[in-house]
Amino acid sequence: MEKITVIGAGNVGATCANVIAHKDLSREVVLVDIKEGMAEGKALDIWQTSSINNFNSRVVGVTNNYLRTKGSGVVVITSGMPRKPGMSRDDLIKTNAEIVKDVTEKVIKYSPEAVIIVVSNPLDVMTYVAYRTANKHSNKVFGMAGILDTGRYKAFIAEALNVSPKDIHAMLLGGHGDTMVPLPRYTSINGIPVTELLGKEEIEKIVDRTRKGGGELVSLMGTSAWYAPGAAAAQMVEAIVDDQKRIFPVSAWLQGEYGQKDIYLGVPAKLGRNGIDEIIEIKLDAKEKKMLDESAQSVREVIDVLNKMKVLD
Ligand code: NAI
Ligand code: 2OP
Repeated sequence: MEKITVIGAGNVGATCANVIAHKDLSREVVLVDIKEGMAEGKALDIWQTSSINNFNSRVVGVTNNYLRTKGSGVVVITSGMPRKPGMSRDDLIKTNAEIVKDVTEKVIKYSPEAVIIVVSNPLDVMTYVAYRTANKHSNKVFGMAGILDTGRYKAFIAEALNVSPKDIHAMLLGGHGDTMVPLPRYTSINGIPVTELLGKEEIEKIVDRTRKGGGELVSLMGTSAWYAPGAAAAQMVEAIVDDQKRIFPVSAWLQGEYGQKDIYLGVPAKLGRNGIDEIIEIKLDAKEKKMLDESAQSVREVIDVLNKMKVLD
């Protein structure tokens, strides 16, 4: 790919750009921030690892210069405030909605064809803000959260079983919040159902820790995580650039799938060159369906708050 842009050169954005560069996914990676010098400095630092880490992608940073992002094939939006201790993801609504709206307008102006991956929180609602602002097909506007959340879930399972995380396959649905829906029934260790290897109580503990996984890191570090979020967003970029047709949990615009309409929610989706190729509907039992409905309800409540703020009017 010719060009990939990452908006926001903070913890997540810079990490994401770094991973994208390491994977050599495009000729050029453009990092954009509003803080004078921040993106330029981090891009220069990453670029200076090129001979050490053996990649060619030219990494450049700019302050608010969207002309430099012109013609990007994929744009990752990470700009916005992160959570601080005591804050929920939803506390970030107004500030981040204004930022996401503003940057999406600028992105679209110079890269109307770009696939947009939103990372800013509250994730499912910020993805909705980008979708409404970009005014393009929803297969090209979606959010990253599920790869991160399943990454955490898989790490906890690998630790509990003392096995390689590479052998763990899992799916997780719902919004990026404490109501997310990990699916032990669809979790296996190279085909062996996790329910054969771990007891009910142990699985419940892991599910609970996964749901609160973001908060655990905020309490430890005083800000939210970046290594796993940055790597997770870069994995989505890779699937798109290489037209991999990989199936990931993605915050996607639902139009009747899973009984939900007009909402961004985490569901399994196939990613390829054009963004989302297909949303995959898996069978849920009554308990799983109820949890998904509750998760959708909590996302709708945040959309209601957003609508009252009239950011999108
Ligand atoms: P950070 O504070 O390290 O970086 C945010 C960057 O955005 C800052 O450098 C800031 O100057 C920049 N920024 C603010 N307004 C901007 C604008 N109008 N244009 C360009 N840049 C702008 O925060 P961090 O840790 O990188 O997190 C970024 C966002 O990602 C937060 O909203 C956080 O909650 C979210 N997040 C989402 C995750 C997910 O799974 N979806 C996981 C981790 C974080
Ligand atoms: C995370 O899950 C806070 O969304 C951020 O790490």
